[in-house]
Amino acid sequence: MKITVIGAGYVGLVTATCLSELGHIVHVINRDPHKTASINAGSPPIYEKGLDTLLKKNIGKTLFATTDYRNIRDSNLVFICVGTPHQQDGSADLSMVRAASRSIGENLAKTEHSPIIVVKSTVPPGTTEGIVRPIVLKYAGKSDISFAMNPEFLREGRAVEDFFHPDRIVIGCSDNSIFTHVASVYRNIDAPILVTSIDAAEMIKLVSNAFLATKISFSNEIGNICKRDGIDVYEVMKGVGMDERISPHFLNAGVGFGGSCFPKDVAALIYFAESHGEDPIILKSVMKVNEIQANRMLFILKKRVGELKGKRIAVLGLAFKDDTDDVRDSRAIPVISQLLQEGAIVVAFDPVANITMEKIFPNICYCGTAEEALTDADACLVMTEWPDFSRLGNEFERMKSKIVIEGRRILSYHDREGICW
Ligand code: UDX
Repeated sequence: MKITVIGAGYVGLVTATCLSELGHIVHVINRDPHKTASINAGSPPIYEKGLDTLLKKNIGKTLFATTDYRNIRDSNLVFICVGTPHQQDGSADLSMVRAASRSIGENLAKTEHSPIIVVKSTVPPGTTEGIVRPIVLKYAGKSDISFAMNPEFLREGRAVEDFFHPDRIVIGCSDNSIFTHVASVYRNIDAPILVTSIDAAEMIKLVSNAFLATKISFSNEIGNICKRDGIDVYEVMKGVGMDERISPHFLNAGVGFGGSCFPKDVAALIYFAESHGEDPIILKSVMKVNEIQANRMLFILKKRVGELKGKRIAVLGLAFKDDTDDVRDSRAIPVISQLLQEGAIVVAFDPVANITMEKIFPNICYCGTAEEALTDADACLVMTEWPDFSRLGNEFERMKSKIVIEGRRILSYHDREGICW
């Protein structure tokens, strides 16, 4: 099939590259010419495991990056994969979805051909039907264009693997022929396909992320309770997760969730609920537990080292999780902010995210190794579950005082205190 993907962020670029690997002819459109040049040169502008190899393999053969919307005129399908960041009030900023819809419409006005427009961006229920459809139809000046919603469930750092091995493919659409077309894109992927209404497909994405975030906040709350009585929350949640109805996944207690999806999607669902007159008590608590959890790192730290002014604190891990350089909503951000506010000297190390965090905190000290960050430190906070950290041992001996506080259960070093274990 001929496919156009609009947006070359994490979702757009992974989707475009993986679709090209499946044998489709894919054009990925991005407004930034530097980004498209980098993609066409075989160099992904983001770090994502396995993407580099697939991009180099397919670029110029089945995959092309461009700033030009004209390619959609002979596409069978157009995927909208632009960002929907959250605004101050928690609502999703749909300006990029609107702009993409308008560009699609304007370009379809000049042709008889009508591809199916598929929204993949995470959007509040009602967006595809209430915003995308009317804008595209208005600027195209026609009424015979079909629409579908096909949410993505890709995890950063494992997005390529998730694309080829999803738990399910959800296609929201209004008739069988649209379903058949969209489903045929994935014909080489072995996964159950669920067909739903467009609004339900939009909701499935938000609710999936909200439920996973709920599992995490729940585990964190249980961890905080367990720690009071010296009970190991990891033993508890292992036993709990062995119940098939619960599942062992996303029960790892720690400093909380970050990233581009969970905080944004829970906030969007809260906003959606409230704008419909509902008070989403559970969802609001999920967010609250997550915010408070970061403070616990500081609380334990201060209990152990006293006043933070002038203390050298090593922060290991800056990315919101392992295997990514993404620091969006990373739990390290509120922790570093608080450390700086209280006059601590922050010495940070992340295997890949030093550069991205430097844009947020240009004035802290970034180290090339964990050992360097730990040298002469008064205390250490572990913020990200990088597997490499599990091998740290002698490196902690270089600290001035060996106060090691884990926000993620990752260290094998014996003398450490967990945030909630
Ligand atoms: C998530 C969803 O998993 C994915 O399906 C969706 O498409 C996008 O959002 P992602 O944000 O990439 O993916 O990361 P994920 O692996 O889900 O982790 C999110 C956050 O939760 C991280 O900060 C991680 O450290 C934290 N987490 C995860 C926990 O604290 N405990 C857990 O048990 C699991």
